[in-house]
Amino acid sequence: MPNVDLDAKIPNNVGLADDRKLRKALEAWQPNFIEWWCDMGPEGFQADDIFLRTAVSVKPSGWAHFEHVKMPDYRWGVFLTPGVEDRLIHFGDNQGKKAWDSVPGEFRKELRRIIVTQGDTEPASVEQQRMLGKTAPSMYDLRNLFQVNVEEGRHLWAMVYLLHKYFGRDGREEAEDLLVRRSGNADSPRILGAFNEPISDWLSFFCFTMFTDRDGKYQLGALAESGFDPLARTCRFMLTEEAHHMFVGETGIRRIVQRTIELMKENEDVRKAGGIPLDLIQKYINRWFSVSMDLFGGEDSSNAATYFAQGLKGRFGEGKKGKYEDHTALEGVYAMDVPDANGGIGKKEVPLRRAMNLILRDGYSEDCLRGMRMWNKTLTKAGIDYQFTLPSERFNRKMGLWNGMPFSPSGENVGEAEWLRRCDEWLPSAEDETYIHAIQQPVYEPGKIAGWIAPPKHGINHRGFDFEYVKFADDPYVRG
Ligand SMILES: [Fe+2]
Ligand SMILES: [Fe+2]
Repeated sequence: MPNVDLDAKIPNNVGLADDRKLRKALEAWQPNFIEWWCDMGPEGFQADDIFLRTAVSVKPSGWAHFEHVKMPDYRWGVFLTPGVEDRLIHFGDNQGKKAWDSVPGEFRKELRRIIVTQGDTEPASVEQQRMLGKTAPSMYDLRNLFQVNVEEGRHLWAMVYLLHKYFGRDGREEAEDLLVRRSGNADSPRILGAFNEPISDWLSFFCFTMFTDRDGKYQLGALAESGFDPLARTCRFMLTEEAHHMFVGETGIRRIVQRTIELMKENEDVRKAGGIPLDLIQKYINRWFSVSMDLFGGEDSSNAATYFAQGLKGRFGEGKKGKYEDHTALEGVYAMDVPDANGGIGKKEVPLRRAMNLILRDGYSEDCLRGMRMWNKTLTKAGIDYQFTLPSERFNRKMGLWNGMPFSPSGENVGEAEWLRRCDEWLPSAEDETYIHAIQQPVYEPGKIAGWIAPPKHGINHRGFDFEYVKFADDPYVRG
């Protein structure tokens, strides 16, 4: 494994210095990336100095490097977790064979599709979030937003590296296209639905990082098991960055809840006090959890079975000792809930391999629940008689078995008419969105914070909340 080369034009630990052709190709892609970043990245903050964390090595200690840097000068690089010698494929039909260092011809199409689909979500989320800086509740939050954004940019680099290195000409074309598609663009949208909606308020941003980035964690976790070794190692390294994104979401919502509790104790009407009522937070949970469930794909899926059989995509923690005994998943069934003929809920037994998307999603739901329990604990501790819940897997689905069916958050089929009548009770209404937008006025002074969210317990890298996380080039309040 080559050492980390930080001084190269493209910082990397993949030996770019010795691979002239690849280096040239990536150096040619680099200006296009920067152009995309300046066009589609955070709007209005590219000249400011942001207190960002940069990877300086792939060891855990390599994460401790923080400095003020302008986002376009961020050192986007290509980093892979070091490989394990003589790694074997540890699941599916190819179990026990040597892991692939290059793309097996027969799986080329599938692997390309997996990498492009994952890669597409990275720039998409940056595009979705590009206006959020204008309404940041604090300098600390502004900095966290930009940290998430630059890391998603780096994840794009990671995927583009794989495309350039392993997929020849079509890989290079795919890499170009990743900079051409645009979130929400009618002619060339991003690949997955959830990545085409703008994220224009911070409650949505925190829900996105809590629920949608967590889908990312599970997808990357499944790919980190891949028999295609470069993909596995790339995803492993991305996961370390992804953890911070979910931290931003989970603690962001917790801080909103905490502030709402304070307001509830001082006032009768949280809305009048400019806060976010608990039932409104629940509606956003309902929206973002259901949208993120769609990202796992069909519950009963032949694609998922094929990916597992081929050794391209495993289960989350497939290689973890003691987690699974049988790595072929040829025996056994998954008894899944399916719609019956009367719009009710029936059961169907599906061969295990075909249920891989659902197995991954089950782990995801558990993980979401764990995070949500922290918010509920905050409520209980404060003596507030309210608990958040995750909506049923059948609620508000646009994909899979329950697509378009009128199920309530608690999982009953309520029929079309009632669904339409009550959907503003379950999901954010236009009026709710207007309210959320109205209270989000930016606060750009160190140590100050908007009235709808509590400050964090700790700052970044042992700095206080009042640290100057962003050094503005000029007055941020007067930027258009
Ligand atoms: Fe990412
Ligand atoms: Fe992320």
